[in-house]
Amino acid sequence: MSDALKRQAAEAAMAEIRPGMRIGLGTGSTAWHFVDLLGARVARGFECLCVPTSEATATQARELDIPLATLEDIDSLDVTIDGADEIDARFRLIKGGGGALLREKIVAAASARMVVIADQSKLVETLGKFPLPIEVNPFGLAATRRAVAGVMDRFGAEGGFALRQRDGATFMTDGGHYILDASFGRISDAEALSRALLDIPGVVQHGLFLDLCHEAYLAAPDGVIRLSDR
Ligand code: A5P
Repeated sequence: MSDALKRQAAEAAMAEIRPGMRIGLGTGSTAWHFVDLLGARVARGFECLCVPTSEATATQARELDIPLATLEDIDSLDVTIDGADEIDARFRLIKGGGGALLREKIVAAASARMVVIADQSKLVETLGKFPLPIEVNPFGLAATRRAVAGVMDRFGAEGGFALRQRDGATFMTDGGHYILDASFGRISDAEALSRALLDIPGVVQHGLFLDLCHEAYLAAPDGVIRLSDR
C-alpha cells in the first residue's frame, strides 16, 4: 500500500484521541504514522500516556517525547491504535507481519477499544491469504513444528510454514521467540484454529486477533472509511 494511504488512515484515527487518554501504540509501517502524528500533537502540549507494543515503537515514541508507561504502571488503556495484515467483515484480524503480535495482543486485550488503521486492500473476505504468524518458544522447536504441521493438516492448510528469517538469521521477537509463518490460504474456522494452536505447548501466541477489534479506519484512493460494528 502506498505510504500516503497509511498516513491518511492514521490521520483519520487521530479523531479517536482525547486529552488525558491512555493509548496503546501499535507496531508496523501504518502505526508508525500514527505515532509520528501523535508526537507532533505532544510537541504542541497534548497530554497522554502511552504503552508501546514493541521496542521499535518505544524507540520512535521516546524520540518524539511521547510519555510512556508499562502495563505494570497502569491497569487499562482507553484505546489501542494498530495496523493489521488482514481484516475481515467481522473485524477478525491477522497480525504479526512485523513480528510484534504477542505484545500487540497483550496491549489490545488491556484496552477498552482496539482501532485498526490500514489501507482498504487489507480488507478480505476470508482470512488466511496472508501467512499466519505463529510465535513459538525456541525450546523444543522440532516438536512444536510437528504439532503445528498437524494442526495445519487438520485445518486444510493449502501450504506449509516457514521459520521466519531476517538478514540471514532466524528472526527473534522482542520476547526472544521465533515465528513460524503458516500458509493456510483460507482459514474457515478461525476460532477453532486459534484454540488448536494455543493447545500446543510450544506455541506462545498466534496472529489471529478475534473479538479484540471492532473499529477500523481503512484508506482508499477516494478517501478513508470508518467501519464499526458497535
Ligand atoms: C506488527 O507485528 C504487525 O502486526 C503489524 O501491525 C501489521 O503487520 C501491519 O503492518 P503494516 O502497517 O506495516 O502493514
